[in-house]
Amino acid sequence: MGKLRVGVIGCGSIAQHRHLPEYAVNKHVELVAVCDIHEERAIEVAEKYGVRAFTNYETLLNSGEVDAVSVCTPNCLHATISIAALEAGIHVLCEKPMATSKQEAEAMIRAATLNGKKLMIGHNQRFVPSHQKARQLIQNGEIGKIYSFRTAFGHSGPEGWSVDGKESWFFQKEKAFVGAMGDLGVHKADLIRYLLGEEIVEVGSFVETNAKDFADVDDNAVCVLKTESGIIGTLAASWAYTSKEDNSTIIYGEKAILRLEDDPVHSLVVQYANGEVVKYELGKIQSNEDGGQNNSHVIEHFVHSIIHDQEPPVPGEEGMKSLEVILAALESNETKQIVRVRV
Ligand SMILES: NC(=O)c1ccc[n+]([C@@H]2O[C@H](COP(=O)([O-])OP(=O)(O)OC[C@H]3O[C@@H](n4cnc5c(N)ncnc54)[C@H](O)[C@@H]3O)[C@@H](O)[C@H]2O)c1
Repeated sequence: MGKLRVGVIGCGSIAQHRHLPEYAVNKHVELVAVCDIHEERAIEVAEKYGVRAFTNYETLLNSGEVDAVSVCTPNCLHATISIAALEAGIHVLCEKPMATSKQEAEAMIRAATLNGKKLMIGHNQRFVPSHQKARQLIQNGEIGKIYSFRTAFGHSGPEGWSVDGKESWFFQKEKAFVGAMGDLGVHKADLIRYLLGEEIVEVGSFVETNAKDFADVDDNAVCVLKTESGIIGTLAASWAYTSKEDNSTIIYGEKAILRLEDDPVHSLVVQYANGEVVKYELGKIQSNEDGGQNNSHVIEHFVHSIIHDQEPPVPGEEGMKSLEVILAALESNETKQIVRVRV
């Protein structure tokens, strides 16, 4: 089999920091095209990687030049572009949040199945070493019964990240559909599901806009979650953590407490109930603060799943379940009720 011909749609921050550099060093991949409606940006990025620039994703998809694409556009376009790609017989790695509704997510999954193509969602938190180690400890029974958790993802906001700064789509409801909850909260909903190996079945939340007066989406949210076995915990997502990013998770178990990405040096600290403390140095999580320069491993898993014709580690179904938690949180905030997640 020759190299996988890849195109990247959307040439903003996530494409430039992660997708493009990670494809460029993957020996199974030949980067062939990029696409952005911002023509100068498309040309600049295309020149950097020596590939063809497109300004219309349909033209790229119909060019016959690509076998797989990354969808790195604003959230509102994820479903439309992914479905168009899958229907054109092209594998898709779509950024998170997967879609703006359950119906869109289901249509994406259907398109992947009908066309026999891979659909993976960019939930990179699953590939962070401390998260993988914690999942292993939990699965091995080392922590005993899990009682509770606390997870947070917050920073000062996407104006310091998006290529369009304060003018970014991130702050516009019709393009983003959801703010910090969709941007950061969905990562942590996915992480908790991954770590505990259980579904979240009930959600209560406060989802506010109180830090950014120019935004018409939420920027500060706190949720309470309950899993199918009755584990309860909190999830916070915020663009209002002004001076320092928080990307930490704490799992409270019968035999130990796990502190993930909570210590600047030790990405996993295990505090056993018998007083023993084990500290693991497993490398840093990717963050906006390092410009996302660490390898996310998302691209290598996507490519591997295509080459070996295996299910991707985060298929559309998983992306949809994590999205459902966010949709339930939004509904809870609106209705002021605890909402059952429709899984
Ligand atoms: N996995 C992660 O950790 C992570 C981190 C950041 C962003 N993301 C996700 O990646 C996606 C992109 O975010 P970003 O930070 O790169 O945003 P960004 O604002 O930096 O870039 C978005 C780009 O999309 C382009 N675009 C808009 N409409 C387009 C169209 N119709 N066709 C082609 N290009 C189009 C814009 O011109 C811009 O260059 C979002 O869904 C976001 O949630 C994921």
